This record gives sequence, structure tokens and C-alpha cells, in this order.
Amino acid sequence: MEIIIRKEEDHDHVEVGKLLGSAFEQDLEARLVDSLRKNPDFVPELSFIAECDEQIVGYILFFPIKIISKQDRHASLALAPMAVAPKYQRKGVGKAMVEHGLTKAGHSGFDSVIVLGHAEYYPRFGFRPASLYGINAPFEVPDEAFMALELTKDGLDRVSGTVVYPEEFNEV
Ligand SMILES: CC(C)(COP(=O)(O)OP(=O)(O)OC[C@H]1O[C@@H](n2cnc3c(N)ncnc32)[C@H](O)[C@@H]1OP(=O)(O)O)[C@@H](O)C(=O)NCCC(=O)NCCS
Repeated sequence: MEIIIRKEEDHDHVEVGKLLGSAFEQDLEARLVDSLRKNPDFVPELSFIAECDEQIVGYILFFPIKIISKQDRHASLALAPMAVAPKYQRKGVGKAMVEHGLTKAGHSGFDSVIVLGHAEYYPRFGFRPASLYGINAPFEVPDEAFMALELTKDGLDRVSGTVVYPEEFNEV
């Protein structure tokens, strides 16, 4: 099966909304992405779709966030949301999107990525519990589900604190 990963374009928005609805079985994530696209921090180059059989079957977004401590603030990225159409799950579409996205994110000047998600899934890409870096979620979350990845060598050296998400995420 050929999987094409490319940057999301304006004309993809409706299809991406349908895909998110079918993968999450609710419309919260589709509404989240609609709101995030209007946020001035949105980076269009870090919003990707996957195509198979000439249809959109996957979506992944990397959105700028901050890691804040009393002394410092550091820019990072949240990997969220990510989804694959139910019929196309477990065929490597998610893997292709994560790997492509992480490469592009590294080339965009970011040092790290944070993800809240399946603890069995993301470690295969190098994610580790964020707590190992002294990075905390702004809400209660199982330790192993809140993960961080360095995009550059020692990208999280001397970075610790609490992740601050844009307020649009509060709705999810
Ligand atoms: C999670 C998701 C994005 C993975 O995409 P995918 O294309 O199926 O993933 P890949 O084909 O690259 O990898 C498959 C592996 O993912 C893991 N995986 C898939 N769905 C999973 C789930 N719900 N929980 C835990 N692991 C899961 C499995 O380990 C699977 O490996 P296996 O085939 O050996 O069992 C996709 O299943 C999905 O859209 N789920 C619904 C929405 C969602 O949960 N999004 C992520 C929020 S963190």
C-alpha cells in the first residue's frame, strides 16, 4: 500500500474534519483543529495529511507550546491531534506520519516534541516519559502517557517545567 504524506492544504479541511470525526468517534478534535488553524501560532508546514488510495486517511499536527518554569520558558511542540481512518489503522500510516512530521519539525528549528497519548505507541519513535526530563503536564495524567522527545542532541538539557498548551486545547 502506497502511503503519501504531505502538508495539509486549505482544500483538505473538510476531509480532515470527517477523518478526525471517524477516528475519534466525536467532533471535539475536528473542532479543535478548526480553532487551532486560526491561532497565529499555527505553523501550516507542520500540519500533515496521509493519502492512500487517493483519499485522505490520516492527519497529524505539531503545534507550538511552551515549557515554563520559574526561571525560564522554552519553545516546544505538541504532537496533537493525530488520527488514522479506522479502515487504515495498523498498516503503518501512523508511523509514516510521525516519522515524516518529526523530521520536518526538526528542520523547523524546534528542539523537542511533547505528546499525551498511548504509552505503548509513542516510545517506538524515541518518546520517553516527560517526567524523566522534569517536564510536567498542566493537568493530572498517568506518568507514562505524557512523553517527550528530543529533536536535537540534548534538546531538553536544562529544560524543565510545566507545559502550557494554547487555550483551544482546554475544550478537548
Ligand atoms: C493511534 C493511531 C493514530 C495509530 O495509527 P496507525 O496507523 O494505526 O498506527 P501504525 O500502523 O503506525 O502502528 C500500529 C501500531 O499502533 C499501535 N496502536 C494502534 N492503535 C492503538 C491504540 N488504540 N492503543 C495503543 N496502541 C495502538 C499498536 O501497537 C499497533 O501495533 P500492532 O499492529 O503491532 O498491534 C490510530 O490507531 C488512531 O487514529 N486511533 C484513534 C485516534 C487516536 O487514538 N489517536 C491518537 C491519540 S494519542
